[in-house]
Amino acid sequence: MSELVIEKVWKEYGDQIVLEDVSLTVASRAFVALVGPSGCGKSTFLRMLLGQERPTRGTILLDGQALPQEPGSDRGVVFQRYSVFPHLTVVGNVLLGRELSGSRYKAKLFGAARRDAVDEARRLIGEVGLSGAEGKYPAQLSGGMQQRLALAQALIMKPKVLLLDEPFGALDPGIRAEIHTLMKRLWHETQMTVVMVTHDMREAFTLATRVVAFERKRDRPEEKERYGATITKDISIWPPRLAGAPSIFSPDRDGPVISLGLRRDDPASSPPGEKP
Ligand SMILES: Nc1ncnc2c1ncn2[C@@H]1O[C@H](COP(=O)(O)OP(=O)(O)OP(=O)(O)O)[C@@H](O)[C@H]1O
Ligand SMILES: [Mg+2]
Repeated sequence: MSELVIEKVWKEYGDQIVLEDVSLTVASRAFVALVGPSGCGKSTFLRMLLGQERPTRGTILLDGQALPQEPGSDRGVVFQRYSVFPHLTVVGNVLLGRELSGSRYKAKLFGAARRDAVDEARRLIGEVGLSGAEGKYPAQLSGGMQQRLALAQALIMKPKVLLLDEPFGALDPGIRAEIHTLMKRLWHETQMTVVMVTHDMREAFTLATRVVAFERKRDRPEEKERYGATITKDISIWPPRLAGAPSIFSPDRDGPVISLGLRRDDPASSPPGEKP
């Protein structure tokens, strides 16, 4: 399970109210895309889910428990850039989380534990399409390859929740389409709940089961600091998957059919060729 419950959350920096009264329940295994104007607090919201920032008011629960005060291995994160460490190889980057969590005193694993971790890292590197690049450094990789590496680095910790802050925003359209296909597969093959910030509506509606928009409801320029953004739209595209439920992505089709307002048990909401 990996349900997130955000209850009446506010975030203020000094006099500036960034977010006001945000309440949102994200079902286990959902894929939520978060959209909204620049500066409305999307990254701030994601940092609160990560545990890097605390809400000024309100609570955030993961599976009924208050979020720990700091980032933990149950929450992985990929940023638009700089998620990977430039001085580590591809394998080193993917192994890092395991090494840091494997030993209390040293960032090293030994013996069988290390062999297992290296096997797992190599498997994930293959999963994200980076086989052959194991010994390379990030500077020797393209932007798309670096983001694939960042995904593998996050996934080795088997996070319950994957947080993505415009992870594909800097990629060329062709590369972006490839990585979308990869992202869908990874999400489908794991139990993760995903929350992804994006500026790209097409990306939001292609990948997500639900699209949530943040906006300042009262946007008076002279009072910008006094009002925060909150949820103004919440659109369900697909219900979240249940454990053992069939894939919402049929193998021969790239992306879910957008069916706003239709329920999964409504035959009209089923993609072609798939039984409801
Ligand atoms: N640590 C901080 N201290 C003070 N103000 C901050 C801090 N972090 C963010 N802010 C402010 O909070 C507001 C929201 O910032 P945030 O980065 O969350 O927006 P965003 O929606 O992610 O924007 P973008 O789409 O441009 O990435 C901005 O006005 C920003 O200046
Ligand atoms: Mg941002």
